[in-house]
Amino acid sequence: MSSISSLDEMRSILPDSADTSSGGHLIVGGCDAVELASEYGTPLVVFDRATFEARARSYTAALEPASVAYAGKAFLCIAICQLVDELGLSLDVCTGGELATAVAAGFPPERIVFHGNNKSLDELHAAAESGVGRVVLDSLEEIERVAAAGLRTKLLVRVTPGVEAHTHEFVQTGQEDSKFGFGLGDGIALEAVKRALEIPGCELVGLHAHIGSQIFELAAFDLAIQRLAVFIAETQDRFGFVPSELNLGGGLGVAHTRDEITPDPAASVARIHHALRREFGSLSLPVPRLAVEPGRSIVGASCVTVYRVGTVKRIPGVRTYVAVDGGMSDNIRPALYGARYEAFLANRMDAPPGPRVTVCGKHCESGDVLIKDVHLPDDVAAGDLVCVPATGAYTYSMANNYNHVPRPAVVMVTDGTATTIVVRETNEDLLRHDRRLDGSMPGNPSNSQALDGLDISDSSS
Ligand code: LLP
Repeated sequence: MSSISSLDEMRSILPDSADTSSGGHLIVGGCDAVELASEYGTPLVVFDRATFEARARSYTAALEPASVAYAGKAFLCIAICQLVDELGLSLDVCTGGELATAVAAGFPPERIVFHGNNKSLDELHAAAESGVGRVVLDSLEEIERVAAAGLRTKLLVRVTPGVEAHTHEFVQTGQEDSKFGFGLGDGIALEAVKRALEIPGCELVGLHAHIGSQIFELAAFDLAIQRLAVFIAETQDRFGFVPSELNLGGGLGVAHTRDEITPDPAASVARIHHALRREFGSLSLPVPRLAVEPGRSIVGASCVTVYRVGTVKRIPGVRTYVAVDGGMSDNIRPALYGARYEAFLANRMDAPPGPRVTVCGKHCESGDVLIKDVHLPDDVAAGDLVCVPATGAYTYSMANNYNHVPRPAVVMVTDGTATTIVVRETNEDLLRHDRRLDGSMPGNPSNSQALDGLDISDSSS
């Protein structure tokens, strides 16, 4: 592994607007990362609006905007919903919480696609109330619940085409052995289509298949399309049902390290279109309108996380640990999936690289490692700023409060202006849900600073 101290070497994994100041500081969206860190604190997620917009547009260059549903699970907050709306995209939500975020942002409900393998009746009521445009049916129980919730919406049936995408097993979803959707092999998907066609007040418009995430080899999509075409020939024979929409989910990978290459969304969509024409044409079926649900490939490269180094532990002949002020609470992906990232010093981009070090977090666990082997300058020390690129997807959205560490702030940067889009959590936020043994609010107003900012008026809840 060579040095990554120069901007050019890292360009492929940094936001499009990344630059270096004359003083060797990282610049994103025209903002100096060192100044951002001192103004907003660390760890700090820096969100480059221009990169998000450019990645979204690389999809809309190939598909009409409403056929591209940004997958909110990758990173969702009110400002991102607004941005997605401004770009004219649809929005994929997969829980009542994500739906509530979209509603709070005023996102047009007709462009919301509601997913989830275990949507509750309450969630389906909320979907009915907000008027979501599409619900993706995932189980037979849900088909009953959709009818009971009185939804008046368009429906898709989610199928698992029995395809194994080459990615981490936790993020494979297209194979037969999956908690998601209806398998094509055992007749259950046909049954689902039959029942979905009978739900009063709803219209079955399409099928959905999402085969996995962080996919770099697109061949899995070809096989999925082939199997879907065969299945649709069967739904046509049995029920006269030919979907007008085919939603192939998300999944396109994003490079987190310099040795990976991010597939181009427009080229990937073109390849999928080609496969659709080939497979549907060969069975004399009309080609459905293609829809996709990219999350990672839109938001992944849009963010970097900036941490402050607190301690450096050098164990001669063994390893050097560079401990930063975040870790597995703001990015659990290395611990959970063995995900690899790169890092460099945002305050000294021109410093020569040194030997390999391990960047670890501040949590009480040896597995709290962000990057096992990365070359940072030899004299890396407390106070330096470590920047980890490509942290936009599934980092903040999977952030947690392990060890009661508050979640970071997120600032959106564009044209030299930074705006807080998610405020940093505080210890008060962490205590907000705690109650004493007798169920009362903690603290006593006369001696508790921890109550600052807490609403203590309701001691009964
Ligand atoms: N549509 C559906 C139905 C999905 O389940 C997903 C992701 C997407 C779209 C978006 O996929 P993307 O374009 O972002 O790959 N936490 C894991 C990723 C889990 C993906 C879950 N579903 C990670 O950190 O890698």
